[in-house]
Amino acid sequence: MPLLKLVHGSPLVFGEKFKLFTLVSACIPVFRLARRRKKILFYCHFPDLLLTKRDSFLKRLYRAPIDWIEEYTTGMADCILVNSQFTAAVFKETFKSLSHIDPDVLYPSLNVTSFDSVVPEKLDDLVPKGKKFLLLSINRYERKKNLTLALEALVQLRGRLTSQDWERVHLIVAGGYDERVLENVEHYQELKKMVQQSDLGQYVTFLRSFSDKQKISLLHSCTCVLYTPSNEHFGIVPLEAMYMQCPVIAVNSGGPLESIDHSVTGFLCEPDPVHFSEAIEKFIREPSLKATMGLAGRARVKEKFSPEAFTEQLYRYVTKLLV
Ligand SMILES: *[C@@H]1O[C@H](CO)[C@@H](O)[C@H](O)[C@H]1NC(C)=O
Ligand SMILES: *[C@@H]1O[C@H](CO)[C@@H](O)[C@H](O)[C@H]1NC(C)=O
Repeated sequence: MPLLKLVHGSPLVFGEKFKLFTLVSACIPVFRLARRRKKILFYCHFPDLLLTKRDSFLKRLYRAPIDWIEEYTTGMADCILVNSQFTAAVFKETFKSLSHIDPDVLYPSLNVTSFDSVVPEKLDDLVPKGKKFLLLSINRYERKKNLTLALEALVQLRGRLTSQDWERVHLIVAGGYDERVLENVEHYQELKKMVQQSDLGQYVTFLRSFSDKQKISLLHSCTCVLYTPSNEHFGIVPLEAMYMQCPVIAVNSGGPLESIDHSVTGFLCEPDPVHFSEAIEKFIREPSLKATMGLAGRARVKEKFSPEAFTEQLYRYVTKLLV
């Protein structure tokens, strides 16, 4: 019976036959030596070498051997899985010496139990009275997440709506925030300043870090989620939103191209405020759209991104490996 080593967030027991472990690719040769006849399946979440920016020459020098080891050891796995078609393309671009390998795609799954077990709470503390159209952005306070796109879309939206509708719009910018991380602190200040300058103070609430219960309550109550990062390698927020029957407006690149069904569970747009505000406006003009797209979103997550779908797909790759 083969023991599978799988790179994943946490150890996870897969049925009774396989165990999955967290590891980095450099461990693969050790496993090859230790278990000569076992197959190795490698779940590559995102090539490590892209996660550290190598801007200075010195840093490149230091990373070069590590990058080589990563590329070399990754190539030793019997089967390589990645979390999206997008990551598969990045993989091929990054690991030039492995261009003969076509990684298979195993989408991450959403632990739906944790969503089902929460009773959503009221949002009175976060949303002013009288608001009807609640827009939600969930992302860490990092510049690459392009949260300014959500704010700029709001400015555009103001120009498109009657003042009566506009008064009922509210944006919640919720995101992971750590005051020890300089970028988080700086970026929060930048966003706050932008809100002041655009006179959006009464229409935006910033929420820095939040509990799971708050997140689920927000998703439960909002009209749609604005997902602003470009080239996101997968992006779990769109899955969480769709499962909570909340349509997603996302940028038309990266993982959202695979998670969101355009015009069915949300909208995929160019990363510019005009296209984003046009998409938001659809939900305001046609209130039933949220419910229709919400239902389609939940069905999509259950079908393609549930723990069962994950297990089934993984099982298929494992059996393919064993014949
Ligand atoms: C899924 O969520 C439930 C409830 O929060 C938790 O008890 C369970 O351990 C989670 N499962 C996994 C695989 O993380
Ligand atoms: C971020 O959003 C702005 C518009 O607010 C857009 O011009 C820019 O291209 C976006 N950045 C990326 C990387 O998509």
